[in-house]
Amino acid sequence: MAVIGTDITRAQILLDAGELVAIPTETVYGLACNALNAVAAAKVFAVKERPAFNPLIVHVPDMRHASLYVSAVPEKAKVLAENFWPGPLTLVLKKKSLIPDLVSAGLDTVGIRCPDHPLTRKLLETLAYPLAAPSANPFGYVSPTAATHVNDQLGSKIEYILDGGISSIGLESTIIGFEDDVPVVYRLGGLSLKPIQKLIGQVTLMLHSSSNPSSPGQLKSHYSPIKPLVTGNIKTLIEQHYGRRVGVLSFKDNYYMDHQFILSANGSLSEAARNLFSALRKFDEMDIDIILAEYVPDTGLGLAINDRLSRASVNRR
Ligand code: TXA
Ligand code: MG
Repeated sequence: MAVIGTDITRAQILLDAGELVAIPTETVYGLACNALNAVAAAKVFAVKERPAFNPLIVHVPDMRHASLYVSAVPEKAKVLAENFWPGPLTLVLKKKSLIPDLVSAGLDTVGIRCPDHPLTRKLLETLAYPLAAPSANPFGYVSPTAATHVNDQLGSKIEYILDGGISSIGLESTIIGFEDDVPVVYRLGGLSLKPIQKLIGQVTLMLHSSSNPSSPGQLKSHYSPIKPLVTGNIKTLIEQHYGRRVGVLSFKDNYYMDHQFILSANGSLSEAARNLFSALRKFDEMDIDIILAEYVPDTGLGLAINDRLSRASVNRR
């Protein structure tokens, strides 16, 4: 198992040596390496068992550092970074050749973000290079929102996990790119669309139906627990699955089942977002056959929560 701790110097020594370290962010935990080191990046793909066509996100301490690695930042990207960095927003921008092709999966763009977590910001400010970090889970599985989640699955493959507590947002970053200067949202995430649109106007949604930007829909579902998950009206689902060992995942209502999670008893979408991934992980440890889940209201962070539920479900909408 990996060592879990808060020692930034230990993290730095490992990263300087081209090794991997799991890092906390406000969205989810990342599996980090020196983003300028292709050999280190190859280890990330290997540990995650991630297909090489799926690019990594590069993490920087601020916009000044970002501009070392990207060229031609559109005005709207600057406005977004000024307003939402550090925070749960990834900008897809034209990359400089300093970023290895492996990191960007051969694309001429790179996803870049400035995470909002004190430990990781301190680490990034200490390092002489940016960190490439996908979510620290095996490819296709639910993202980790706690150090123990990372340890459960990747603990035997990495040496150190920097522990920053529970991720305060709990959903991956919102990803925005620019095609002919038109803002395009590739992934709904921890930053809602409304504040984005308020600043830069209309955006186009181009959500991958898989995590592969170049061949959507060809991979099996993503963000998935091992247990099958179906969505619908919970009461109806409970009737339909009568006699089976079920786990119920509700937004705010109590169904008084033996195995259930209520995402937010007072109906808060941000609390629901924070609880979603750990609830899915807990169901996987329970003695149940199937997860019965309901969608949350389709507003604000609810859009991203429903996106993850849909990708996790066997009856994808
Ligand atoms: O919140 C997050 O973004 C977390 C934390 C650790 O920062 N990271 C994360 O990374 O979720 P990952 O690798 O699990 O998801 C990255 C997504 C992938 O779906 C990938 O296809 C997309 O970002 N992506 C990365 N670079 C891209 C690019 N140049 N163009 C389009 N999509 C890109
Ligand atoms: Mg991921």
